[in-house]
Amino acid sequence: MTEIKVETCSLKNQLEETLQRNRLLQEELDATNIGLLALTMELEEKNEEVQSITQQLWQVARMVTMGELAASIAHELNNPLATVSLRVESLANKLPPEDPKQKALQIISQEVERMGALVKKLLNFSRRGQRKVTTVDVCREIEHAIELIYYQLRKNRITVRRDYQAELPLIHADSQELLQLFLNLFTNASDAMPQGGTLTIRVYEGHTDTDCVAIEIADTGMGIQPDDLAKVMDPFFTTKPVGKGTGLGLSICRHIVREHQGLITIASEVGKGATVFIKLPMIKESGHTSSQGVSPIK
Ligand SMILES: Nc1ncnc2c1ncn2[C@@H]1O[C@H](COP(=O)(O)OP(=O)(O)OP(=O)(O)O)[C@@H](O)[C@H]1O
Ligand SMILES: [Mg+2]
Repeated sequence: MTEIKVETCSLKNQLEETLQRNRLLQEELDATNIGLLALTMELEEKNEEVQSITQQLWQVARMVTMGELAASIAHELNNPLATVSLRVESLANKLPPEDPKQKALQIISQEVERMGALVKKLLNFSRRGQRKVTTVDVCREIEHAIELIYYQLRKNRITVRRDYQAELPLIHADSQELLQLFLNLFTNASDAMPQGGTLTIRVYEGHTDTDCVAIEIADTGMGIQPDDLAKVMDPFFTTKPVGKGTGLGLSICRHIVREHQGLITIASEVGKGATVFIKLPMIKESGHTSSQGVSPIK
C-alpha cells in the first residue's frame, strides 16, 4: 500500500515537472513566434526598401543614358551650326554693308554663336575625366551654370538676382564639379518655384572661422518640411514624383563641397523658400596649408 502511495506521489511529481516543462516550452515557443513575426515584418520592410532603391537605380541608369544621348545630340549639332554660321557669313559678305538685312543676319550670327557656346559647354560637361583642380573664379562658374539652365528659369518665370562682392578672391577647385554643384542647386530652386519667383545668388568673402568664399543660393519657393530638412542630403531622398527626381542631386553637392574642403548647409521656411549656404576655402598666400593650398572648413 505504502509502495503504491510512494509510486503515485512520484508519478504526480513527474507529471508536475512535465507540465512545468511544457509551460516553459510553450512560453519559449510563443516568444520565438513573436520574434519570427517581428523578423518577417522587418524583412518585408527591407524588401520594400530594396525594391524602392532598385527603382531609383533604374531611374539613375535612365538618366545616365539620357546624359549620353544629350552629349551625342550636342555633338551632332556642331556640324549644322557650323554650316549655318558659314552661310550667314557668306550672305552678309554678298550684301552691301548698309543693306537693312545685315541687322537680321547679324542677330542670326550672334544666336548661332550662342548655341555653339552652349553645345561646347554641354560637351565639356559630359566628357568628365580626371579631376582637374585649377584656380577658379566662383562667380564665373555660377554664370556658366545660369547660362546652361537659362531656358528652364525663363520658362518658370524666375528672376535671377545677383549680389556678387567685387574683387572676390579666387579658389582652388575643379570647375566642372563646381558647374555640376550650381546646376543641381539651381535646378532644385527652379523645381521649387513652378509658379515663378526669385532666385537670389550672393557671393562674398567670409572671415568667420576660416577665410572663405561664401555663396548663398536663396529661392522663394515652397520650402522644405522641417522633418525633411535633416534628410534632404541623404542619397535617394526625394519628394519628387517617380521619373522626376532621383534624390541624388544634393548628396552629389555635399560630396563635391567636401572634396573642396568646404561646408554646405541648407535652411528653409515652409511656404517662404529655401537657402543653401556654401563655404569654400580661399587660397592662402603662404604658410602652413594643405596640399591644395587651402585649409579645410570645419
Ligand atoms: N530649393 C529647394 N526647395 C524645396 N525643396 C528642396 C530644395 N532643394 C531640395 N529640396 C528637397 O530635397 C529633396 C532632395 O533634393 P535632391 O536634389 O537631392 O533630389 P531631387 O531634386 O529630388 O532629385 P534629383 O536632383 O536627383 O533630380 C527634393 O526632392 C526636395 O524635396
Ligand atoms: Mg535635385
